[in-house]
Amino acid sequence: MQVLKRSTYCGLVDKKFLDKEITLVGWVNKRRDFGNLIFIDLRDNTGIMQLVFNPENSKNLFEKIKDIKSEFVLSVTGTVAKRSPEAINTKILTGEFELIVKDLTILSKSKTIPFQVDDAENVDEELRLKYRYIDLRRKKMYDLLKLRHKITFAIREYLNSQNFLEIETPILSKSTPEGARDFLVPSRLQEKKFYALPQSPQIYKQLLMASGMDRYFQIARCFRDEDLRANRQPEFTQIDLEMSFVEQDDIINIVEGIIKNVFEKTYNNTLKFPFKRYSYDEIFSKFGSDKPDMRFGLEIHNLTKLFESTELKFLKSTIEGGGKVGGIFVPNQEFSRSEISNLENFAKEKLNAGGLLSIKITNDKNIESAVQKFLPSNFLLELQKFIPEIQKCSGTIFIVADKFKRAWDILGRFRLELGKKLNLINKDEFNFLWVTDFPMFEWSEEEKKFNAMHHPFTSPTDSLETNNLESVHAKAYDLVCNGEEVGGGSIRIHDSELQAKIFKIIGIDKKEAENKFGYLLEAQQLGFPPHGGLALGLDRLVMLLGKTDSIRDVIAFPKTQSGTCPMMQTPSEVDEKQLKELHIKIK
Ligand code: AMO
Repeated sequence: MQVLKRSTYCGLVDKKFLDKEITLVGWVNKRRDFGNLIFIDLRDNTGIMQLVFNPENSKNLFEKIKDIKSEFVLSVTGTVAKRSPEAINTKILTGEFELIVKDLTILSKSKTIPFQVDDAENVDEELRLKYRYIDLRRKKMYDLLKLRHKITFAIREYLNSQNFLEIETPILSKSTPEGARDFLVPSRLQEKKFYALPQSPQIYKQLLMASGMDRYFQIARCFRDEDLRANRQPEFTQIDLEMSFVEQDDIINIVEGIIKNVFEKTYNNTLKFPFKRYSYDEIFSKFGSDKPDMRFGLEIHNLTKLFESTELKFLKSTIEGGGKVGGIFVPNQEFSRSEISNLENFAKEKLNAGGLLSIKITNDKNIESAVQKFLPSNFLLELQKFIPEIQKCSGTIFIVADKFKRAWDILGRFRLELGKKLNLINKDEFNFLWVTDFPMFEWSEEEKKFNAMHHPFTSPTDSLETNNLESVHAKAYDLVCNGEEVGGGSIRIHDSELQAKIFKIIGIDKKEAENKFGYLLEAQQLGFPPHGGLALGLDRLVMLLGKTDSIRDVIAFPKTQSGTCPMMQTPSEVDEKQLKELHIKIK
């Protein structure tokens, strides 16, 4: 079989090839038969070129092409011709041209394929993932993987220019506390012992700072056994970096430099630098989230004081029990009764809200609400003190009362639903921001103990000598864009005593700390420089720039929501012999 060298790619045929003889290679996208005139669309990752087989030029090929179907791989030679005006296809780049074929080699045949490449969007995802290599033949998928490559390249290029060293760290590792379950790998050589796959290279990169590497980065594969969502995979990639002798500002500047270079090299969109920064407390009280989508407004107002003195019993009792009342005002928007009832159901069923109270303010400044008769006559006047916007326009307020965190979390998610429903989101905008000064600790109702909100290697800003650990803040910062957490990092602890105190607070006693992190505590006593860093979620960054909602679209071979790979059938059972070598018995 002769594989002729291609002259160009299918999608790149243009007027400079007109009347010239060229060779193309690619896959059959579509075949159309009109008796003694046959058209084949030949496809490669740049696009499509129309091939023409006619009796004058291709007579001796008709026998050869009679069985050619979609996804056969061909090499063809012919002359580039201009299509007649009525045959021009403006939808494809090469739509003015066609190739009059005079020679053809079938390089590979294809059985009937499980789905047409052009139709993949309408195919069940499980089937697409089973035949991922066919799914990836789509232009959209090629473009997303190309974008991923360009982004990665731009990041490497920038960090290299800033004197970072790219250093790999082990995959067969030990558990690090990033908050998820570990994937474990049994050891054959060390009976009854396990490696953990890294949830991130966190401790290794800190130890690289102890080694004097000064500026480290890695395009690091991370593994977390957690429930999967549209933006989460069990294995994903971080742009992981760490720097010595730095403050928060230095890390933020480097990360903004990365994003700037990425946008300049991949996307025709100018961002405004520096990105705005907000403290966690400020952002949570306004948006009920630590990763708010700020492409639209609809801030949360604290209406607790307003309702303290009303006769609404359920609000009053929540407030008396230490709870808070929050409200979102949607200006200039009429909601019908059924729309309000749908929103109430959404809040109760999807957000687990105890209830959702709505109050309508009409154009002539009247109030309409199910609880109207319990509101005092000066209610509107009082309300304007909390939401001044009401003076200027009509609208509806949605109210939730509960413990502060819970109420605000519900309102934050309700706000996102309103943003989507009311079409308030500009899909072309990239709204980057920093959230800083996170709480150091987070109380877990389930475990009845404090956990580190970022991770336990994060430096606290405030003293730990307090009765209220929830008031201690951390030198931690997240990069957020369009409601996604794109990255997170912190200034680290480099003092073993402080480190031991943090471990103790989060319930890791001395023995466990020694057992799990003894090497780190020791390193902190052997010359550890002050340091800090951050990790960007590469997959999420590509999702954002590629404008796709599913993380699986930007990963060549992703796992399904249930953590499987339908193509390779992983995870899978293994031989009895393999288990024996690993000293494992399946119950
Ligand atoms: P963190 O846990 O915040 O920090 O992770 C950093 C970023 O990684 C991305 N990410 C994920 N992406 C896809 N699937 C997942 N399951 C997933 N989990 C996280 C997010 C997130 O912002 N060691 C610290 C970083 C540091 O302190 O330097 C860490 O891993 O975009």
